[in-house]
Amino acid sequence: MPAMRRGVPRVVARPNTQSIRDEVLRGLHAEPKTLPPKLFYDAVGAELFEQICELPEYYLTRAELEILHARAGEIAELAGPRVALLEYGSGAGVKIRLLLDALESPAAYVPIDVSREQLARVSTELAAEYPRVAVRPLNADYTLPLAVPTLPEGSRRVAFFPGSTIGNFHPMEAAVFLGRVRRAVGKDGALILGADRCKSAAVLNAAYDDAAGVTAKFNLNMLTRLNHDVGARFDVSNFQHRAFFNSRASRVEMHLVSKEAQIVRVGGDFIDFEKGESIWTESSYKYDRARLEELIETAGFRIRKLWTNSKRQFWVAYLDAA
Ligand code: TRP
Repeated sequence: MPAMRRGVPRVVARPNTQSIRDEVLRGLHAEPKTLPPKLFYDAVGAELFEQICELPEYYLTRAELEILHARAGEIAELAGPRVALLEYGSGAGVKIRLLLDALESPAAYVPIDVSREQLARVSTELAAEYPRVAVRPLNADYTLPLAVPTLPEGSRRVAFFPGSTIGNFHPMEAAVFLGRVRRAVGKDGALILGADRCKSAAVLNAAYDDAAGVTAKFNLNMLTRLNHDVGARFDVSNFQHRAFFNSRASRVEMHLVSKEAQIVRVGGDFIDFEKGESIWTESSYKYDRARLEELIETAGFRIRKLWTNSKRQFWVAYLDAA
C-alpha cells in the first residue's frame, strides 16, 4: 500500500500502548512513586526538549553531533549502500540528516516516536528533502514490542538510537531492549548507538537542572499533561523539580518532589503525598567503557567502532549484529 499522499508520509499509529491511565495509576501506587518517561513527550514536552538540547549546560546533544559530523563518512562506509534506517525516538530529526546526507543511496527511513505531531511534521519535511528515501513514520512506544513496516527489497537494516536514550532504561531493561533491536535489524543488521559517559557530579547536575529552569519546566509539564489527558488534578505549583547524580548507581535521577503533604485526584483515584515525597520520573544512566561493552555484548551486538568527542563526554558506537 502506498505510504505517501501528495508527498506527505502517512503516519502509521501502532496501538501498542496500554491505557495511559492504568499505567499512571500503577506508577503512582508503587513504592517509590514513578511515572513513565515517555509521558514527557506531548506536543509541549517535545518542544521543551528541543530547548533543553540547546542549553549551555546540556552538553550531550552538541557532543553527539560533533561525533556524528566527524564520523559520518566512516559510518557510511561501514553501513554500505541501500540502508533502511530505523530510528528509535526520532524527535526533532536533526541528527538523522547527517546520516542521510552521508549514506550511499539510503533506501528508507523509519522514524519511531511517541510524539505524534512532531513525528508528522518532521516526516513531511524529510520526505520533501529526501525524495528518494521511503519515509515510513511509526507513531508507537518503542519500549514495547513493535512490528517494523515493510521495507524496500534488498535494503539492509541499520538502527539508530542516539541521544543517550539508552541511559533512560535501567541496565537490565537496556539489555532486553537492545536485544529486541538486534532482532528487528536481523543477523546482517547494525546499530548506531549514542550513550553518555561518566563524569563529574557538578557537570551532570547542571546538565539536568539548568539555570534558566527549562528542565524544571519540562519535568513539571508531565503533571500538566496528566491533568489534560487522564483527568488528574495536580496543582503543579505544589511540586518541585529535583535532579541529582547518584554516583553509586551511575545515574542522574529526575524527581518531582511534593512541597507539602497533599492528596491529589488522578483519574477517579486519590493519591497521598507526604511532604518531601517524590515521584521518580526518569533516570539517565552514565556508561564507562567496560559497562557499555558489557551491555552491547549481552544484547548480541559486536563493536566495530567506538568514538568519543574531543572533550570525552559522550560515546557513539557502530555495532554489528554478532
Ligand atoms: N535522553 C535524555 C537524557 O537522558 C533525556 C533527558 C534530558 C531528560 N534531560 C532530561 C529527561 C530532563 C527528563 C528530564 O539526557
